[in-house]
Parts: sequence; structure tokens; C-alpha cells
Amino acid sequence: MAQLVARLDGIEEVAGSSPARSTNMLIDTHAHINFNAYKKNGDEVIKRALQNDVFLINVGSQYATSQRAVEYAKKYPEGVFAAVGLHPIHTKGKKIKEEINAWRNEREAEEFDYEAYKKLAQEPKVVAIGEMGLDYYHLDKGQEEEQKILQKENFLKQLKLAQELNKPVIVHCREAHNDLIEILKNYKLAGVLHSFSGRWSQAQEYLEMGFYLGFNGIITFSRDYDRVVAEAPLERLLVETDCPYLTPVPHRGKRNEPSYVKFVAQKIAELRGINFEEVAGVTTRNARELFRI
Ligand code: NI
Repeated sequence: MAQLVARLDGIEEVAGSSPARSTNMLIDTHAHINFNAYKKNGDEVIKRALQNDVFLINVGSQYATSQRAVEYAKKYPEGVFAAVGLHPIHTKGKKIKEEINAWRNEREAEEFDYEAYKKLAQEPKVVAIGEMGLDYYHLDKGQEEEQKILQKENFLKQLKLAQELNKPVIVHCREAHNDLIEILKNYKLAGVLHSFSGRWSQAQEYLEMGFYLGFNGIITFSRDYDRVVAEAPLERLLVETDCPYLTPVPHRGKRNEPSYVKFVAQKIAELRGINFEEVAGVTTRNARELFRI
């Protein structure tokens, strides 16, 4: 706690605290209602989440979706927050594959514009910088090294912004944990490794750096992360949906949404042999501490 208070020193604006609603409330720490998948009924989906005692953070993956995340946050007096950042698969020079285009619903590759994002990040309901990071799964053949360099450059700029504004980071990583850990070791930032996809030993490295680990619907249909979910300290876990993707069991095949985050919390409870209320209480407190909401 002392560390958290120290970090708050010098911050000009904080997100504004929101009272807890019930002991079972959850915070979906990684949602994308700001994506085109919700163009027609994003507000309906957000209202359903709030009615189910689920708060959410809409996470930007490009400037346009970051802006949209801020607009959504401004519309709601409580429970809806934003993160602004540039996802590694959208960095300049990336020849975005057609299926990625369709999947992400965004077309333009982009270079991180420090000043533009800085301005956006200073909106009062922006609680983090991200999503940012490294994604070596989506590299194009023959351009791997060049694209890795671009991803790293854009990642470093965002880490610098987080440091300057004293905000936590939301980090995406796919098949790049060793490089990512090397970079993060040089910074003293609070943050979450969202949709954690590494090994137990890598989980330990993130935990040692003070990071939280975010889990989503993947843990309801894959057994790959059971050990990390069961054995990492509950005080360091966050729940998320990464909606519209990664829909948890029992809604596989449907578009995901924040109100389904309860299935993730239920799975964590099952894997740890504890009750849902404990998972809800602790992970909500974790999210409130990290994002100061
Ligand atoms: Ni995401």
C-alpha cells in the first residue's frame, strides 16, 4: 500500500473512486466495446454489464479505438473506464494480413504519436496506458526482424509515456516473453500482463517484477494455465474478457461481453478450491488498487 500511495504522489488527476456495489461485483479489466463488433449495440452491452455488477475498462489498440474508449468512459458516471495505447500488431510497417484485418476490425497500421496519446491519456477516466507490447505470433515471413524492431520502438515509447504520466500499463505478449521481460526489467512500472500465455517460470518473473496476471475465457477451455491460475497469489490476479474474443464456456461460439467475466472468476475459484465470493472480492480489490478506481 505504501508503494501505491508513493506512486500516487505527483499525479494531477486520478480516475475518481467508485463505490462497490455488492460483494460479488467484478471488474472486467480488458474489454473492447470500443471495437466495431459492438458498433450497433455497445451501450446495451455496457448497461447489461453494469446491471450485473460488472465494471469495465475499455482498452484501445490504436488511436481511433483509444479515442472511442475515452468517449464511452465519459458517457457513464460510474463503472466504465478507458486505457489508451497502440497494440503491437498495429505498428507501422506491419503488413496486416487479411484475416487479422477482419478480426481486429481496424485497417490502418500506425506509429505511436507520443503527444497525441499523451493528450488523450490525460482525460480523467483513462486509468492505464495500453494495450502495448510484443506479438511475434503475427510477424510476416521475411520481415520478422524489421517488424520486431518496430514493435519494440513503439512499445518503448508507450512505456515512457506511462512513466511520465505515472500510470500503470496493460501489456500484451504473444510468443515474445523473453524479449518482453528484458525490456520491462528496465522500468519500475505497475501493470498487468493481460491474457497471460507464458510458462510457470515466466509467470514468476512477471510476479517478481510486481506485475499482475490477467486471465480470461481461455482458462475455461484450455488446461495450459491451470498451474499458474491455481498457484500464483490471488492478490496478483485480475479477471478480464478480452471481448469480443475468447468467449468463455458455456457461451463458446457467441460474441463475448463483459458480463461473462463471471465465468472466468468461477473457473479461478474452481481451480483454486475456494469460493466465488473470495475470487470476486480479491480480484476486484486488485483492479481497484492497480488502476486506482
Ligand atoms: Ni485486447
